[in-house]
Amino acid sequence: MVKLDEIFPVGIGTYRLEQSDKATALSGLHYSIERGQNFLSTGFSYADGAVVELLSAFFPTIDREKLFLCTYVEPNVHTAGAVEGQLNAYLKQLHTDYVDCYQVHNPFETDLPLETMYEEIFRLKREGKVRYVGASNVSPKDWKRLTEQGTLDFFEGIYNFECRNYETNGVMADCRERNIRFVCYQPLRRNRTAQKQYPLLLELAKKYGCTQNQVILNWLAHQKRLQTIVKSLTPANIDANLAALDFKMEAADDCRMDAFCCPECEQIPVDWDHSGVGVPIHLLANQF
Ligand SMILES: NC(=O)c1ccc[n+]([C@@H]2O[C@H](COP(=O)([O-])OP(=O)(O)OC[C@H]3O[C@@H](n4cnc5c(N)ncnc54)[C@H](OP(=O)(O)O)[C@@H]3O)[C@@H](O)[C@H]2O)c1
Repeated sequence: MVKLDEIFPVGIGTYRLEQSDKATALSGLHYSIERGQNFLSTGFSYADGAVVELLSAFFPTIDREKLFLCTYVEPNVHTAGAVEGQLNAYLKQLHTDYVDCYQVHNPFETDLPLETMYEEIFRLKREGKVRYVGASNVSPKDWKRLTEQGTLDFFEGIYNFECRNYETNGVMADCRERNIRFVCYQPLRRNRTAQKQYPLLLELAKKYGCTQNQVILNWLAHQKRLQTIVKSLTPANIDANLAALDFKMEAADDCRMDAFCCPECEQIPVDWDHSGVGVPIHLLANQF
């Protein structure tokens, strides 16, 4: 089993994996594993189960023990019993008897009270079907309640060059204090950040002889010391994303990355309380 300190800093994202043909998707996944990536995050809500189905063909072809598998409790889970039912469905489809991390995907769309869901998840951990417990897309208020309910090991949320919400609201600092691993999804904002051509990213890319995306991944890994999940099936992009770890930027440049503020993102209100005002946090990246 993969130990926490053995997790590769750039994880394998699986959202939209099914959009490629099956052979390309499988060879992209194998290439990621060959390159040392050993953290994979997935869920039944991706393409209505088609991604997990695709992974069902992938898992028997790899050494399961060498992969850290992170899965979500999806919004279609409405009862306490269904939390284990869904876990069992992952185990069956992915030919395994444990998941490394189990976590709520999207509390915004989930009607099962989080306390009830997490009572179940903590019980599944005690039973050994779940190794670590995480939480994704939770509000700062829910985060606080969950950390009081039991020991959390992972937090997964949007964090990138432009979207700093979980830093400004204190969740990131709390993770550091409690030694909880903060995993950033959409670190490249699906390549949209690079398309914005921010002068700072262009300048640093030129200075370090790399791409804007590499500047971002380098900063996230080395300066912020965060785990990322990037989806890529293209070997050239996978190589580029991993090569982003191979250099160190000067401290002054890291500080300039830290200090960047994206007014476009900052002015988008996030609907943390499910009040209908603002944007649910999981949809933030698509708004600009
Ligand atoms: N917990 C949640 O609610 C949540 C929400 C969103 C995402 N996630 C997870 O996080 C993962 C990553 O997020 P994401 O897939 O939405 O966004 P992302 O990883 O920021 O971007 C993925 C897109 O960028 C392209 N790409 C990757 N590396 C690139 C590079 N070096 N240069 C140019 N383009 C590049 C990929 O295309 P190619 O395949 O052609 O390389 C793909 O189209 C997801 O797959 C999913 O597993 C979780």
